[in-house]
Amino acid sequence: MILEESYTLSNGVEIPKLGLGTWFISNKDAEQVVKEAVKIGYRHIDTAQAYRNESGVGDGVRNCGVKREELFVTTKLDAGKKSYQEAAVSIDNILENCSIKPMVNQILAHISNTPEELIQYTKEKDILVEAYSPIGHGELFKNEKIKEMAEKYNVSIPQLCIRYDLQLGLLPLPKSENPEHIKSNAEVDFTISKEDMEILKNMEAIEDYGAASIMPVYGGGFDLKSIISYIFQRIASIFR
Ligand SMILES: NC(=O)c1ccc[n+]([C@@H]2O[C@H](COP(=O)([O-])OP(=O)(O)OC[C@H]3O[C@@H](n4cnc5c(N)ncnc54)[C@H](OP(=O)(O)O)[C@@H]3O)[C@@H](O)[C@H]2O)c1
Repeated sequence: MILEESYTLSNGVEIPKLGLGTWFISNKDAEQVVKEAVKIGYRHIDTAQAYRNESGVGDGVRNCGVKREELFVTTKLDAGKKSYQEAAVSIDNILENCSIKPMVNQILAHISNTPEELIQYTKEKDILVEAYSPIGHGELFKNEKIKEMAEKYNVSIPQLCIRYDLQLGLLPLPKSENPEHIKSNAEVDFTISKEDMEILKNMEAIEDYGAASIMPVYGGGFDLKSIISYIFQRIASIFR
């Protein structure tokens, strides 16, 4: 089962192959979500300063009943370097000037947006690639071709997306605050055939990330007008 599998980082540390994403989980809910995920078997939680839920995640980690040393927690400083060139320059800079080598590189990587060159480059440096937004921030539910492929394997769209990243040797971080989703996202013990992996790799590029397209993590500029429009769309989605 994937929850019992791990990658070995180049410094010998074991990192669980599947992590729970927590972006957009409120600080108030984060403790409970983390506890649920740990109960299901997750041992790897991804948070960030920018998610404003680090303390809730921390409460979950402290109160989940599993020893801290058995849990892998990732957090991140805010970052703005997103293009291939900027990322490559940053990585080279770290490699040349730091005594401690980076162990992981977290990048946007999912069906319909697979930056193969960057993945290859990062792997060549012996750095594990973590895939953020493995379900395209939820946008991949709208892709009919992905839906058809998921049906072919009799799995859900998130399961197909997670399996796809795993078969590329990446560490996916699917976000969910729904215990049923968290559980089913770890049920990925199936294999996508070589031919289908190629089809998924070459799938037409995703056009946008819906309301979230304005976010710098999807290449957006985050200007004031977009922020206001985004806030309205988020409020509207709550009442939908
Ligand atoms: N380093 C970075 O710059 C960066 C950027 C973006 C994200 N991240 C990390 O990557 C994580 C994942 O990315 P993401 O949050 O953008 O999105 P994602 O994991 O691609 O998709 C999350 C969406 O899919 C839904 N979902 C998940 N599993 C589902 C299931 N089994 N059935 C139905 N719906 C399901 C979630 O809703 P429910 O909650 O209702 O299940 C949510 O709406 C983040 O939470 C964060 O930890 C990092």
